[in-house]
Amino acid sequence: KGKRAFIAGVADDNGYGWAIAKSLAAAGAEILVGTWVPALNIFESSLRRGKFDESRILPDGSLMEITKVYPLDAVFDNPEDVPEEIKTNKRYAGSSNWTVQEAAECVKNDFGSIDVLVHSLANGPEVVKPLLETSRKGYLAAISASSYSYVSLLKHFLPIINPGGSSISLTYIASERIIPGYGGGMSSAKAALESDTRVLAFEAGRKKGIRVNTISAGPLRSRAAKAIGFIDMMIDYSSANAPLEKELSAEEVGNTAAFLASPLASAITGGVIYVDNGLNAMGVGV
Ligand code: NAI
Repeated sequence: KGKRAFIAGVADDNGYGWAIAKSLAAAGAEILVGTWVPALNIFESSLRRGKFDESRILPDGSLMEITKVYPLDAVFDNPEDVPEEIKTNKRYAGSSNWTVQEAAECVKNDFGSIDVLVHSLANGPEVVKPLLETSRKGYLAAISASSYSYVSLLKHFLPIINPGGSSISLTYIASERIIPGYGGGMSSAKAALESDTRVLAFEAGRKKGIRVNTISAGPLRSRAAKAIGFIDMMIDYSSANAPLEKELSAEEVGNTAAFLASPLASAITGGVIYVDNGLNAMGVGV
């Protein structure tokens, strides 16, 4: 039987979440996505109006189907967490059931279970500020949106992930090496995400035999990356210095996610898997 995947963090066709959805769809999976509430209307109307049709084409010529789009804001675990100014915000008021707990409940009610959980989201309001200039509020917001959001997603979805299932997140090498410009506590958030990947692999493995891995991806010109402001430089740096001199395509990350979700990866868990043309292995620029 085909697998079912829930991919949190898809709001256009430029990011890693979209590419992972495509690779999983090409491998026969049914695709559900979780879309950040403020981006939901544009994403759904663009999908409906065919704006993504060219990007939906799979290797066999068919178009990727997204069975259902769920509104999601992964910084809120349940309705009690949601402050009044968000509840009454115009961009949120039109949607419902978008906290992590409610989204998991909706997926359970609609489909019963999933096989693959993907976390492809991050947010750091002060990402352009060096760590020394980052406020406590900005740092904690980065950790909340980019790290705890994963703990919460896995916690709430774990009961409906089928045995043999797999959970995947996206990280960046700024967690372990100095990448000036990746500020606001985002480097800290990725370090937490990688450490949590190990602990969650143990806990979800012992509890349900679920595998937990994170992909350390090279630079991609996504919407989120453009907001950081140095993405073109990072892409050029990678092409100039990585063992493989090509530009990384989102599809290469998508295909790795499909591999990690498949039985081919049945002994791989707790890992940080580099998909970066080998840049992580370099010790100096060339
Ligand atoms: P993206 O912009 O396609 O994806 C980020 C998504 O997070 C967006 O859809 C946004 O709406 C969503 N989001 C933000 N806050 C949210 C919240 N509170 N609740 C729910 N969704 C929320 O950008 P990209 O770059 O594909 O990011 C996906 C993952 O890949 C992130 O974890 C990012 O850190 C990681 N990554 C990206 C790299 C790059 O160069 N683009 C390199 C290495 C890792």
